[in-house]
Parts: sequence; C-alpha cells; structure tokens
Amino acid sequence: MSEQTMQQLEELRQVEDIKELQEGARRLFKRYQAAMSEVQVRLQILNDDLEFRLNRNPIHHFESRLKKPASAFEKLQRYGLPLTLESLEQNLYDIAGIRVICSYTDDVYKIVNMISLQDDMEIIKVKDYISHPKPNGYRSLHIVVKVPVYFMDVKEYVPVEIQFRTIAMDLWASLEHSLKYKQAKQLTGIDMVDELKNCSDIIEDVENRMQILMRAIETNNGGEEDAAWLRAHLEEIKEDVARRQQENQ
Ligand code: GTP
Ligand code: MG
Repeated sequence: MSEQTMQQLEELRQVEDIKELQEGARRLFKRYQAAMSEVQVRLQILNDDLEFRLNRNPIHHFESRLKKPASAFEKLQRYGLPLTLESLEQNLYDIAGIRVICSYTDDVYKIVNMISLQDDMEIIKVKDYISHPKPNGYRSLHIVVKVPVYFMDVKEYVPVEIQFRTIAMDLWASLEHSLKYKQAKQLTGIDMVDELKNCSDIIEDVENRMQILMRAIETNNGGEEDAAWLRAHLEEIKEDVARRQQENQ
C-alpha cells in the first residue's frame, strides 16, 4: 500500500471516530434531557400540591438548561480529565441543570425536604451556601439528584443539578454575575468585593424580615419569638441610623 493510501485511510478512520463520538454524545445528551424533563414535572407537581395547601406558590419560577457538548468537554479539559464520553458521565453532574427560584428560604428547605422523601430519586450531593454563604456573599442551595429514566429496554439513573435560591438571592447572583463579566473599572474609595458582600448581607436581612411577616400570616399571627426578634432588630437599625446621623453632623 502506498504511503498516500495509508494516509487517506488514517484520515478516514479519524473521521469515523469523530462521527462515532458525535453519535454517542447525541445519545447521551438525550438522556440528560429526559432526566431534566422528569425533574421539572416532579417540581411542578410539588408546587401545585403546595399551592393547593398553602394558597400561594412556594416556587416562584424555574429555569433549566442543558450544557452544550462543547462546554462539557471544555470543562473536562479545564479539570485535566480524559476527554471521553465515559469521563463526562463519571465526572460531570451539571450537564442537566435546573434553577428553582422560591419566594422564601423556608420554601427552599421545604421543597428540598419533599424531594428527599421521594424514594425513587436519590440526592447524591448537597452544597448549602445558604447556611454557609461563599465568602463573596453568594447564597443558594445546590443539590444533585439521580432520577430514573425509563427507555424502551432499560432504566437508567441520570444526575441532574438543581440550584435552589430565593428571589432575593437570585437578584444578588444575577447582578454579581453580570458585574463579573464587565471590564473591572475601579471606583476610588470603594472595595468592589467588600461592597458586593455588604449588598448580600443587606439582601439577606430584608428577606429574613419579610419571611417573618409571611410566617405570621401563614400561622395566623406567627411566633412571638420571631416577632420579638424583628422588634429588637428594627430597634437596632433605628439606633444605628441615629448614631450615623449624629456622626455626620
Ligand atoms: P463548577 O461546577 O465547575 O462551577 O464548580 P463547583 O461544582 O465547585 O461549583 P459550585 O457547585 O459551587 O457552583 C456551580 C454553579 O453555582 C455556577 O455555575 C454558578 O451557576 C453558581 N455559582 C457558584 N458560585 C457563584 C458566585 O459566586 N456567583 C454567582 N453569580 N454564581 C455562582
Ligand atoms: Mg458544579
């Protein structure tokens, strides 16, 4: 066989390999799409049931996205992992991703608890950035669930990442995300990182206070403990404002 023929054969083999990889990726990503739809239906059912009982929607809305194969492989490369479909399946848990935006923190834990009670769905990872916020002020609760997906001849468990956050947490995360991608222009006398953390603290305070009002309505006058905390907290804020006004005079 001539050198030229050998080279052509090698090129053909590479084209075949790429075709095979693309076909495999298409099949695999369909599975993630199916798992994502499965979780969306379950969330919708939970929300409808809770709406019926509470007379309000604990889930404000949810969004979903399927990672593109190119960014999945780019992530594997970033972590120095093998660039194969097997490695993708073993190492990446966020190919199928759902973001659930709830009204209050209580709702986040309520829904996660209900998910944990569904015995054919397993929670395999939890990152609670609500009870332990990231140093920059990011707050959300991330879980990875494995859901059964039924195909013609097999049942497979497929991972889906669900990020839970409140409307207030989403406000901070969305704005911080867009700020991160802007050209860093420093403002004299302002520490950006510090300021973002301060904003996160203020947002957390506001949502805690509004949650107390919601609890009061739901439990028909709420807990006296909550109310006592809120009264003391509002006093502190008033004193703080008065002190600052005096300092500025
Ligand atoms: P990756 O999955 O590679 O991002 O790493 P990880 O699994 O260690 O990250 P983690 O689970 O903590 O966070 C993953 C996702 O949470 C990101 O893709 C974002 O959607 C969100 N997230 C995490 N930290 C931040 C943050 O500081 N700001 C914002 N806006 N989003 C964040
Ligand atoms: Mg992740």
